[in-house]
Order: sequence, then structure tokens, then C-alpha cells
Amino acid sequence: MTSFEPVEIAAGPYQLRPWPVAHADLDEVLTEFCLDPVAKAGIAAFNGPLEDTVAGLRERRLTGWDTGLYLGWGIREATTGRCVGEVTLIHVDLTNQASEIGYTTRPGDRGRGVMALAVPAACRWGFGGLGLHRIALGHMVDNTGSQRVAEKCGFTYEGLARGDYLNHGVHQDTMWWSLLATD
Ligand SMILES: CC(C)(COP(=O)(O)OP(=O)(O)OC[C@H]1O[C@@H](n2cnc3c(N)ncnc32)[C@H](O)[C@@H]1OP(=O)(O)O)[C@@H](O)C(=O)NCCC(=O)NCCS
Repeated sequence: MTSFEPVEIAAGPYQLRPWPVAHADLDEVLTEFCLDPVAKAGIAAFNGPLEDTVAGLRERRLTGWDTGLYLGWGIREATTGRCVGEVTLIHVDLTNQASEIGYTTRPGDRGRGVMALAVPAACRWGFGGLGLHRIALGHMVDNTGSQRVAEKCGFTYEGLARGDYLNHGVHQDTMWWSLLATD
């Protein structure tokens, strides 16, 4: 288990603030995700009984930098501090210099270029700050928004993993992409 010191990252008009250092609105944001049909359709972890699900999600975000399993940032407007979404480096493996990335924009802030800025900023830090070589990105086949984020952020499509993701009791195929430090 590797522990990481929470780090803030600038992303143009946004500031990525690690959840452990700024979490006053974490429950509000997570509750919104768990009630949002689009987020629930794309991310299995947002499904389940509301209170228990939010508690589990909160725990993961507050302890994730200590365990290295979940380096998550709230994406905040730099001027107001308002949270517009979250981006996360998941399962950071320094031995293999690899990680995964995940993200969700708050419903009212979608389509404004939040992830087009936040994902590259988190990746840049993953490569430059952590020395990662590879960051993987996976999404279900019908998640066109996430696919567009992958394309827009310069990820290379690698292929379809069949039945890779259990969501809503169904084994869903996942489209996998990667970004390398050398890309
Ligand atoms: C996918 C998601 C994160 C996109 O976030 P966003 O902040 O709205 O994305 P951006 O505004 O930065 O858009 C990036 C690009 O994707 C496009 N895009 C975003 N959502 C789209 C959608 N639903 N359909 C088609 N294109 C979409 C944008 O138009 C933009 O491309 P462009 O500049 O060429 O027009 C957001 O829809 C979301 O939170 N979905 C629910 C959670 C989820 O599925 N997360 C990913 C799990 S793998």
C-alpha cells in the first residue's frame, strides 16, 4: 500500500482540490451523482440505497490518498470554489507505473468543457508528479459523453473488453483507452 500526499492542481479556470482537504460539500455532490440517471447509468458505484451508498463513496474519497487506491479531486471554480465535478486516479500502481482515470461532472455543469480541462490536468500530474507511464480509461459502449472525453483528451482506443463491468446486474462490455507519458 502506497500513501500519497494530497496535491492541488490548476486547470485553467478550475482548481482540482483533493477531497481530503476540501470536503464540506462532498455529501451534497455525491448525493447528486447518486440521484442522477446519467451518472448512475455510467458508473455502477452510484447505484444502491442512497444513504449507505453515499457513506461508502465518501469513505473511499477521504481515505483514498492514504491507501493509494483512489486519488480523487473535487473540480472547483477557481474564483468561487464551487464544485463542478470530480476526477480521480484509481488504483495507482507505482511498481507498474500505471493507473486508471475516472470522472463525473455535476449534471448542471456538463457540456461546458469541465472534463476537457480536468482530465488532462490530472493526467499531466500523474505523469509528471507520480512518474506514471500509462493511464487507462474505460467506459460502457453507450456512454458517448465519456467516449468523447477520451477522444478529446488524446487517449488511444485499445479495444472492447467483453462483459468487463457489472452494472445494473448486467455484465456490460467496456471500451478501453489509454494515454501514455510518451504520447
Ligand atoms: C461524460 C461526462 C463526464 C462529460 O463531462 P463534461 O464536463 O460534460 O465534458 P466536456 O464539456 O468537457 O466535453 C468534452 C467533449 O465531450 C463532448 N460531450 C460531452 N458530453 C457529451 C455527450 N453526452 N454526448 C456527446 N458528446 C459529449 C463535448 O461536446 C466535448 O467535445 P467538443 O468540445 O468536441 O464539443 C459527463 O457527461 C458525466 O458526468 N457523465 C456521467 C458520469 C460518467 O459517465 N462518467 C464517466 C464514466 S466512464
